[in-house]
Amino acid sequence: MELNTRAVHVFNEPFQGGSWPLSVPLVQSSAFAFDSAAELAEAMAGPDGQYVYSRRGNPTVRALEQTLAGLEQGAGAIAFASGMGAISGVLLALLRPGDRVVAQRCLYGGSHAVLSDLAERYGIEVVRISGDDPAEVEAAAVHPATRLLLLETIANPTGQVPDLPGLLAAARALGVTSVVDNSLASPVLCRPLELGADIVVHSTTKYLSGHSDVLGGAAVFADDELRRRVWPRTVELGACADPFAAWLTLRGMATLPLRMREHCANAAALAERLEGHAGVTAVHYPWLAGHPSYAVARKVLSGGGGLLSFELAGGREAGRDFIERVRVARLALSLGGVETLVTHPASTSHRELDGAALAAAGIAPGLVRMSVGIEDVEDLWRDAELALARR
Ligand SMILES: Cc1ncc(COP(=O)(O)O)c(C=O)c1O
Repeated sequence: MELNTRAVHVFNEPFQGGSWPLSVPLVQSSAFAFDSAAELAEAMAGPDGQYVYSRRGNPTVRALEQTLAGLEQGAGAIAFASGMGAISGVLLALLRPGDRVVAQRCLYGGSHAVLSDLAERYGIEVVRISGDDPAEVEAAAVHPATRLLLLETIANPTGQVPDLPGLLAAARALGVTSVVDNSLASPVLCRPLELGADIVVHSTTKYLSGHSDVLGGAAVFADDELRRRVWPRTVELGACADPFAAWLTLRGMATLPLRMREHCANAAALAERLEGHAGVTAVHYPWLAGHPSYAVARKVLSGGGGLLSFELAGGREAGRDFIERVRVARLALSLGGVETLVTHPASTSHRELDGAALAAAGIAPGLVRMSVGIEDVEDLWRDAELALARR
């Protein structure tokens, strides 16, 4: 089945009485009762048996896992309580002290934080690469302790798209497990497992659930043996998805392809218009011909996504003014929901950094990040124009 169909026809188990509920039942139960000790003992054998205890497996959560595996064309999935739960769970399950990780330089801050922590406390070496050249993976992975390559399909807020086919092929040839955070692209725009990745991780908080009402994460595996190896570690970690969060995520996922089309169309239109505005000095969006990742993006993505960033001529003050003046867009930290959100790193998440420190972090003082929603684009443009004009 094609992707739109897979998003709507979610995995569902037979229901008592033989009919099939159209909406996956929400099984809000922490544990499941058995009639015999032998049955209970047998059910505890692995990830796919009878349900025993919801940290190990739950029907609503399993429906989400199977549907996600279908969307990403994977062999199986594990759902988590958040995107960070998924990233931490996969890294902790696969790495041992002394291992080396090759990581893209421009990763989500939370992923950087976990890697730095693992480096400091467990002696895991982290080698950073740009993500533009497979030779970097080959050079970094000559070290025999290299275990894992960590990439993002679309990096935030630069819009960098790494050369996934080349990098993943290099990792595979060297026996290095590759993990791709596909949160910003979603399986609608890119399916990294089809390009050779071993594991895809998601913050399902973002586009997959899509309505800013639930936190969640997932790891999807190309190979089921790898999922079975990671699963016991994630049961120990306990960052499991709650059934209601899984239910909300499934409900959101049914419209994922429709929403992604609107996010991409709106973001592309705004990126072009912002590029032509006198108050804007640079726009970062991978679907724009001038973006450094444009050629790769056209190869690996089927749309530019909903996230863009732009730099304002007036620097830090102009950025702060812009996020306080918009009226349709809201000032909030997340992304990937139906509503347009803006942030200005220099006056929010990175406000302690001076000009030099901001430059070292690759963030221009006037940089505004916009997660473009599915509102009418003319409303979004008028909102942005007014906020830019009032300076
Ligand atoms: C690319 C990316 N990965 C992972 C995460 C973490 O996800 P969560 O907030 O669901 O833990 C985020 C959050 O912003 C993100 O942008």
